[in-house]
Amino acid sequence: MFPADKLKSIIKYGFRRSLDYRRIINLSQLLFLFFLITLLSVVGCDSLFTKPPPEGDDFETPFEGMTFDLNAMFSRGDENFDRVFTVADGLGPIFNNSSCAGCHPGDGRGTASNVFFRFSNGNDLAIDIGGAQHQDKSIPGVPLEIVPAGVDRSRRLPPPVFGVGLIEAIPVETILSNADENDANGDGISGRPNWVTAADFVPAIEVGGGPGRQLGRFSRKAQVSSLIQQIAEAYQQDMGITNDFIPEENPHPQAGGFAVGDLVPDPEISAGTVQDTVVYVRLLSPPKRGEITPEVQQGETLFKQIGCASCHVPTMRTGTHRIPQLSEKDANLYSDLLIHDMGEELADNRPDGSANGREWRTAPLWGTRLVADFTGGVPFYLHDARATTLIDAIRPHGGEAQQSKEAFFKLSEADQQALIAFLESL
Ligand code: HEC
Ligand code: HEC
Repeated sequence: MFPADKLKSIIKYGFRRSLDYRRIINLSQLLFLFFLITLLSVVGCDSLFTKPPPEGDDFETPFEGMTFDLNAMFSRGDENFDRVFTVADGLGPIFNNSSCAGCHPGDGRGTASNVFFRFSNGNDLAIDIGGAQHQDKSIPGVPLEIVPAGVDRSRRLPPPVFGVGLIEAIPVETILSNADENDANGDGISGRPNWVTAADFVPAIEVGGGPGRQLGRFSRKAQVSSLIQQIAEAYQQDMGITNDFIPEENPHPQAGGFAVGDLVPDPEISAGTVQDTVVYVRLLSPPKRGEITPEVQQGETLFKQIGCASCHVPTMRTGTHRIPQLSEKDANLYSDLLIHDMGEELADNRPDGSANGREWRTAPLWGTRLVADFTGGVPFYLHDARATTLIDAIRPHGGEAQQSKEAFFKLSEADQQALIAFLESL
């Protein structure tokens, strides 16, 4: 123990006279050293010596110039997104991960290690046997979820979450204008909308909410029509965090069926918390384009020439919106948000909304140049993370994309490289 009289003397006369440091080092040097050590431990040595990345080279930046109220919601949502839930907070009883950021690092996509799978029996979502999602972890004292044999499984890589506010703000008619369900123009590409029924907790004033059919926009098969549903379900299904929108725990047959819970009373979080998280992702701006070199320009021309842009539609414009940053803006997402038959190789044989087992939402390509920065240096592509290079992401394109894929592999080496350089500039 530090002697009490020594402490009193320090308070009265200060360090210098009380402790015999002065022979080694004087007080101002000592304070400076202390300051330096604290600074290094707070900022990290690296950031003192290396240049920070250029501004906007991330997925975490909100749109500029937001109102005070929106900024406040954004900050609360930011904290929600990083919050790691514990058993004491209501995590589980079965779950896949304990935070949003755990699956969407840096607000980007996930990695092969946080892919989860959905399962069903044909058109039956298999709720009574633990469907429609496999939660691969459980809290202490709760048995793991066992997946019944013979079900159809679909592995899902977490997609990035920036830019979803712009996606939400694109008018339904704009998206439908690219659909060509019966391939009337004969180009072999017949994108169609995924019409879905919104969960009944989604308020009708939300985009994608209300009775009747709604246009699906979110997730790998565009099977979700609103951000509020996407996120309320993420809390409940991915983390076992019940909320005012979905107050029951996940079905778990091995633990006696529905709602055999943790010890925290449901709902575990409020509607307001879910709403703040919705506002957070809604306001995450897409990153800026990388450098546009002559090679990149050539790649862009080829991208259009060989039909990639027929599905990966470069730009769609948002409609009028109460948030000026989302109103009448170009969303450069490189997707038509429609679902396409992508052939046998990519098929999961599992329906989702009105999408069948061969159909997928055109993956948006914005932010491609930064993917690996948030996944430990290795990028992962496609719905199940099977590809780690862009060429390997193009290779399994089949079905409606067969012709375009073949055209890519017929290009000269230099042209293929230019097209990849273009993708890496997005
Ligand atoms: C266990 C991993 C995991 C966790 C935890 C998780 N997500 Fe996701 N998220 C996914 C996957 C996988 C998808 C795609 C699902 C699909 O296609 O069926 C997705 C889709 C999304 C989308 C749609 C993106 C788009 O382009 O359509 C948003 C937005 C999103 N998540 C936000 C969140 C938020 C907010 C949280 C926390 C409340 C969260 N996620 C927690 C894995 C996760
Ligand atoms: C018929 C529509 C269609 C055409 C044509 C098409 N794609 Fe795709 N693309 C998709 C769909 C759908 C996915 C998502 C597939 C999946 O996740 O399994 C995708 C995924 C991708 C991905 C992976 C993105 C990611 O983040 O995982 C890349 C890269 C890509 N496409 C590039 C191209 C290029 C280059 C071309 C032209 C040679 C092309 N695509 C032509 C529909 C198409």
